[in-house]
Amino acid sequence: MSSADIGVYGLGVMGEAFALNLESRGLKVAVYNRTAEKTRQFIEGKARGRMIYGFTDLKGFVQSLSKPRIIVLFIKAGKPVDDVLADLSGMLDKGDIVMDCGNSHYRDSDRRFAELGSRGTRFLGVGISGGEEGALKGPSMMIGGDFSAYIDAERKVGPAAAIFENSRCISYFGDGGAGHFVKIVHNGIEYAVMQAIAEAYDYLSRAAGYSSLEIGSIFEEWAKGELRSFLLQAAAQVLKYVDPDTQRPLVELIVDEAEQKGTGRWSVEAALELGVAVPTITAAVEQRTLSTQRGLRQITPCPPHASATKRELDEDNTLVRDALRATMLLSYVQGISLLDAGARTYGFRVSEALRVWRAGCIIRSRIVEELYSLLSYAQGEAATVALEKNLALLEELMPNWFGFVAQASSAGIPTPATASALSYYLSIRSRRLPANLIQAVRDYFGSHMFRRLDREGYFHSDWGRKVER
Ligand SMILES: NC(=O)c1ccc[n+]([C@@H]2O[C@H](COP(=O)([O-])OP(=O)(O)OC[C@H]3O[C@@H](n4cnc5c(N)ncnc54)[C@H](OP(=O)(O)O)[C@@H]3O)[C@@H](O)[C@H]2O)c1
Repeated sequence: MSSADIGVYGLGVMGEAFALNLESRGLKVAVYNRTAEKTRQFIEGKARGRMIYGFTDLKGFVQSLSKPRIIVLFIKAGKPVDDVLADLSGMLDKGDIVMDCGNSHYRDSDRRFAELGSRGTRFLGVGISGGEEGALKGPSMMIGGDFSAYIDAERKVGPAAAIFENSRCISYFGDGGAGHFVKIVHNGIEYAVMQAIAEAYDYLSRAAGYSSLEIGSIFEEWAKGELRSFLLQAAAQVLKYVDPDTQRPLVELIVDEAEQKGTGRWSVEAALELGVAVPTITAAVEQRTLSTQRGLRQITPCPPHASATKRELDEDNTLVRDALRATMLLSYVQGISLLDAGARTYGFRVSEALRVWRAGCIIRSRIVEELYSLLSYAQGEAATVALEKNLALLEELMPNWFGFVAQASSAGIPTPATASALSYYLSIRSRRLPANLIQAVRDYFGSHMFRRLDREGYFHSDWGRKVER
């Protein structure tokens, strides 16, 4: 074999699919996996007859690559990435490129960018979205790190990215962990949208008595219009799938405890650190946690009571649909607000994230496409622009949105994402929030001072108390 064009380290679900994708674009791909058996299985299985070459020794893998070498890592995030980077460090030449495509924390990517850079290795932290199918056919790629490395690497991996209207869903977002920062915002939005869809399902199922198959059909219908999105289409397909063994919808046989790998939590932590409110994303993360607190959930079993008749909803289900639409929209707006804060550190254009989210990724949707159109030439804070341009729509959705939260609550169905999105919106459109009372009480017990509407400066009051000395 002459030198390989690119190397893929890690042959799990994503690494295998991406190696096949790269090869389908005409590249010679070298592959390596910690467990050699997996490499052998891949080479003799899916990669048979293709320009994919397996290595069981790391040195041979590295030496097989043309220079500057490009090594794409698809391994478990965290310590494994540091361990592998340490293993590679003595084998790389100045200018070689390592692309970490796992779900790494953006702060780790900031650190690795600096550490590798000091040794002459060009590091790229790559957020990838699209799951296995995306990795195989065209993912959305959010890249940060060494800019010259991006230019070199894009020539090879760019053709493997998803395409939306002739534009590749791959972009550079800035130094260090910028790409992984954008990816955690993506995942935060993903959590919120999934929770909102689950709440619509819960209401239709438990308060109105629809079957899973019927809800699947309703979602399928909605996914043809304003709510068109990968996640709603996925939910529709899942709800309609019948388990061949039991002849029951498989979804009904699944334990109601949602797992998480941490990227949702990271998006909430980033928001807290940067001083950005993302209540719907937070609600979604917390609801996953609550779903696993089975002991707590069993204390007061309380079956819901029907609030909506199926006949009413058969005629008009806009109550549920509008609430979902508003919540989905505000999940993206909250993510955009977090991107605004990240953009101040990394210097990217927020609209660029929406551009690469239009295809290939899990949160692709009509809403993303519309937000991109609104934001691509807009000036100022993207979240403010996104809200201003959607005010009329949100006002129109408001009665049904409010009605859904009220009806679901009275039926005993929790709607943390939908209700928090509503509260977020009500807070934004309130000219005055009760934070004045909070400031006053803070000053009352802790002399924390307050600002006044009628005078400049900071003030303290004794609030009429007699101070004993
Ligand atoms: N699955 C998705 O939809 C998706 C989407 C976007 C991003 N990601 C991210 O992409 C990365 C890979 O995901 P995946 O779904 O392909 O995972 P996976 O199927 O679980 O495969 C994990 C890979 O990591 C390797 N690995 C684990 N610990 C290692 C260590 N200490 N040293 C060297 N290699 C090690 C494993 O090697 P062995 O075979 O030797 O165990 C295996 O090749 C993860 O960071 C994940 O979060 C996944």
